[in-house]
Amino acid sequence: MKYRHAYHAGNFADVHKHVTLLALLAALKRKDKGFLYLETHAGRGAYDLSDSAPESAAGITRLAGADCVAEELRHYLARVGHLRRQRGAARLYPGSPWLAAGELRAQDRAVLIERLPAQARALEKSLAEFSGQRRVRVDSGDGYERLRAALPPTERRGLVFIDPPYEESRLDLQRAQTACLDALRRFPTGVVAIWYPIKDERTGAGWQAGLARDTGREMLLAELWLYPRDSRVALNGSGMLIVNPPYRMDESMRSWLAEMHRHLDAGHGGGSAIHRVAPGRVAPG
Ligand SMILES: C[S@@+](CC[C@H](N)C(=O)[O-])C[C@H]1O[C@@H](n2cnc3c(N)ncnc32)[C@H](O)[C@@H]1O
Repeated sequence: MKYRHAYHAGNFADVHKHVTLLALLAALKRKDKGFLYLETHAGRGAYDLSDSAPESAAGITRLAGADCVAEELRHYLARVGHLRRQRGAARLYPGSPWLAAGELRAQDRAVLIERLPAQARALEKSLAEFSGQRRVRVDSGDGYERLRAALPPTERRGLVFIDPPYEESRLDLQRAQTACLDALRRFPTGVVAIWYPIKDERTGAGWQAGLARDTGREMLLAELWLYPRDSRVALNGSGMLIVNPPYRMDESMRSWLAEMHRHLDAGHGGGSAIHRVAPGRVAPG
């Protein structure tokens, strides 16, 4: 396995993914009843950007230097700042498990799955401040498989977050789709969020249409791209596909996503969009 998230940490896709994650958790916290946060591809929990993370300059570093107005962007930057101050490391960047663990209330729980044992150990370490709280558990194993054992949650509320490396893009798209359908079979009311790369429009549109058809549920597609969507350079954009989105999620996302785009776009032809896909309808291409 060649993928090293440390290289990509803090890039524009991480920023987009992590602000979306915090917004989803905030929406779940609107109700008092506890929920499960289940992450299938958790990573190591914190990344040192001075350790060769060249893409962060156009991501977290650019956003942190901007004058952000939206509450969601300010909260995200405050959490990044908190981690840095707490560890005395100005170039540290939090992974999704650390951000999520910081949002949990006493009644909520997290199961964080990471396949590589060394990364799983690093994740446990990076979550040290939450240890002793039995509600945050790290599992070393295959996220696609472990997901089944964890669902449905006793709480009957939850967010399943799927963030594969896409080393083999088509295979991970296919596996993420199967995992999403599996999750919904066991837990039909759960929120499922999948991160996907925007780099090949036809493959992406076919995948989204398949999910819309097979899940038969409402979906949101929230996308941020910094290069023309079909250019062949590298990663053009970042997408979040959200099945069973929280009530009015699209409305609240609209303003912060547009603002995020304004701050991050360096004039290479980017954009942002949110599509709401009605149950069973084919997603727009
Ligand atoms: C994109 S990174 C995750 C980043 C993390 N979600 C974040 O935002 O901070 C993908 C991670 O998935 C792990 N991984 C790859 N295949 C996996 C699998 N089948 N099950 C669980 N983890 C896997 C990799 O080792 C890597 O740490």
